[in-house]
Formats: sequence, structure tokens, C-alpha cells
Amino acid sequence: MAMISRRRFFSGLGAIGASSLLAAHSRASSQLPVLRATASTAQLTPKGYPPTPVWAFSTEDAATIPGPEIRVKAGGRVTRTLFNELPEPTAVHWHGIRIDNAMDGAAPLTQAALPTGATFDYDFVCPDPGTYWYHSHNRSREQVARGLAGPLIVEDVEPWLGLPGAASRELTLVLDDWLLNEDGSIVEGRWDDLHAAAHAGRMGNTATVNGQPYPVFDLRPQERVRLRIINVATDRIMPINLPGLSPKLIALDGHPVVPRDVETVELAPAQRADIVIDAPVSASTQIGLMLDTGRGNQVELASFNIEGEPIATAQETTRPLPSWTTRPRPDLSSAQKEPLLIEGGAMRGMTEAMYHGKTMGFRELTSHGMAWAFNGVAHGIDDPMFEARLGRTILMELSNRSAFPHGIHVHGHHFTILTRNGVSDPHKDVRDTVLIGADEVVEIAFVADNPGKWMIHCHMLSHQASGMMGWFKVA
Ligand code: C2O
Ligand code: CU
Repeated sequence: MAMISRRRFFSGLGAIGASSLLAAHSRASSQLPVLRATASTAQLTPKGYPPTPVWAFSTEDAATIPGPEIRVKAGGRVTRTLFNELPEPTAVHWHGIRIDNAMDGAAPLTQAALPTGATFDYDFVCPDPGTYWYHSHNRSREQVARGLAGPLIVEDVEPWLGLPGAASRELTLVLDDWLLNEDGSIVEGRWDDLHAAAHAGRMGNTATVNGQPYPVFDLRPQERVRLRIINVATDRIMPINLPGLSPKLIALDGHPVVPRDVETVELAPAQRADIVIDAPVSASTQIGLMLDTGRGNQVELASFNIEGEPIATAQETTRPLPSWTTRPRPDLSSAQKEPLLIEGGAMRGMTEAMYHGKTMGFRELTSHGMAWAFNGVAHGIDDPMFEARLGRTILMELSNRSAFPHGIHVHGHHFTILTRNGVSDPHKDVRDTVLIGADEVVEIAFVADNPGKWMIHCHMLSHQASGMMGWFKVA
């Protein structure tokens, strides 16, 4: 079982009981705090069941699921030396951060994956406040599913917590979905299951919140709390209900929204929602955080235990988060239009697509592990989908011609959702990952204000691995 040791081996105080040669080496080789990617175990199932061997991140001696929460104030720097103690190469992507391209971790596009035993210094500014996360970006379908993910919280410069109408405190909830055997081990040998990849992906049989099965969180009566919910699942879309807690949405993918009531917040893999909840008046009640599994079925992922003296921070109005000034607004009058045609998968397939420069029929594509394409190209790593001049507004029309929903993620930029099926989106939400339903057409716009090579891919990692990937260049 993963034990969290309070002893920091990288404390800057010299050699206090280095736990391994690797740790000693990492201390000697770099001045930055260490982020290790390593094999570990975690109690993902209830007590009494065997712990699960996982791959996980650590900043201290023992790795944890999820990885340690990294916190920084907006405008501040995150500095970590990644130390790869895994048996295969890895790299870390800082999901949703409008980051310096060289730090994006998108192997092999922005850096080579680090071989076993190698280190890499990540050092970057986080310009925008909000709820983000970090995860492996090499062989992600397998490495993220093994546990390589953690929260990255960028705090507002002026604190919002404690102000009238705001929450009194916050909780980060990392939702995950695991495919486990009865002995608790992760199901192996099906990582490149093309049947799953051509459908909804690798669906788990065990859900965790902060790496635990059914954790219980204490709330005081009438307490207002901010939840930072992150879906780090490999493929599972999570529709979340918080009945009886008057949930109000205050941010999506880190970006503040005008507070609004939400009955169900649907999170595609990689999406985040910040939600304010108000505990009820009466103590000694227990309220579930529910996952809607479809057809009217709900599964309880965690619960809130209402206990103790009332604290009455819940109020009529919800104080909005401070709005950003850091992200440039798209200029639609001079936008560069780029289509993103999504094709493939079971039930529809596609007649043909390019794979590494060769046109192939669907059958031949599947023999290479490919089942999906963007604009007729499966796994578009060789050439950019388009190029944009620095500062140009990009208007993308995403057309999902497949029978499955997808969570499309754009690296290094946040986009405005303009329309769905031709209808103007009432909220004009700003996100870094958008869920697009079967046969849906979604228009998004962003300013290409960050030079470099940026990936666009489906964040259902089984889809990404089987073709739903491309990139664009900003210069
Ligand atoms: Cu969350 Cu390409 O990444
Ligand atoms: Cu997809």
C-alpha cells in the first residue's frame, strides 16, 4: 500500500536519508524539486482487497494516486525535474496550461520521451488561474491508465475563498476509472485492444475519487465549498450529479463562467469543472456524488457527510471567480478557417485514410492499429494539419461523422465554443477540451498566440492512440 512519507528527500538540506540510489542521483543532478515517475502500489479497492500495482508520480518518497497536487499562483512558475524510474520512456504534459512550447511535454512532437533513468527539467510560467492537471504524454493510453496523472492548481492572485458569496474552502476531486482484475491488479494484455479503441475505448470496472474507493468528505451544515473536479479517466465520460447540494458551476477547464445552476456536469476525459456546493441545514445526513452511467442508473463515487456545528457560508448569490485578462479574444472578422473532420470507428468506419503518407483502406488501417482519422489522416504526426501566423484567430469547424462522442483537446490554447449544430452556444464557454457528440458539428475559435507545434487530439486516449491525433504550427 502506498505510504505517504512526510520526509522530503529533496529538501535542500542535504543528504537526509535518501531512499534509493536514484533519489540520491536526482538530488545531485539538479537544483529543481523532483517529480518522479515510478512503480508503486495504491489501495484503489476497499480495505481487505489487495493493493494495485500502479505507475505514479511522487515528490516525496512514496508515489501516490493521484500524483501530488502541484499549486502555484497565477503568473508563477512551476519547476520540476522529472525523473523517469519507469521501465519505459515517458514525458509529462501540463494539461491546459498556455505554456512555453518546449515545456509542453507532448512527446515526440515537442520533446523526445525520456528513457528510463533520464531526467528533464520542466520550468514554465502558469499565466492563468484555474484547475488543471498533469499527466504522462508518451504512450498515454497505457501510462495514464496505470496512474500517471495528478492535479495542477493555479491559484487566483487575489484570494476568492472567504469573500462574501464565495466558498470557505475547497476540495480537489480527481475522478478516475480503472480496469482491474479480481486480485486488484490492472488488466494487462489489452492495451492495444482495437475493438475497444474503435468503440468508446477502455472502460473500467472500478471508479476512484482521489485514488480511493468511495471516500467520504465532511461538510458542516450550510457550508459552502468549492469543488475542483478533474476527470483523468483514460476513456470514460463522467456525467456527475450532486443532488441536494445546490451545485453551481463557476469554472470550466479552469476558465471562470458566470455562476449557473447545473443539474449534471458532463466531463469528458481531461475536462474539469469548478463547482460550488452548499451543504444542507440539517446535520447527520449523507449525500452522494453520483456518476450517471446511463439509462437512469447512478453509481455513488463518493459521499459528503454533513456533521457538526453550522457554518452558514452558503448564501443566496454565488460570487463569480475573478475574470481573466490574460487570454486574447478571438477576432472573428479576420479568422482563418480550418475544418476538422472526424471519421472512423465501429459502425461507420471510413473508406480510406492516409497513414504515414500512404493511403489505406479501413481494413489495412486496422492492421496498423488505426481506426480513426482527422481530415483523412490517421495519426497525423508527420506534417502539420495547418499553419497559423502568430496572433491570427483560428476558427475551427469540428464535424463528428462517427457514431461516438469525442473529447477534442487543443494544446497550448483555450478556445471559445461558438456554435453547436449551427446554433449559437448560449454560454460561449472557454475550454481546452470540448465534448462533441455523434454527428455533431461544433465551431470553436482561438487566437494562435503561442509559437510552436501544438497537438490536437481526442482525449479518449484509446482513440488518440488509434489515429485521432494531429498538430498545427504557430509561427
Ligand atoms: Cu491532456 Cu495531449 O493532453
Ligand atoms: Cu474520441
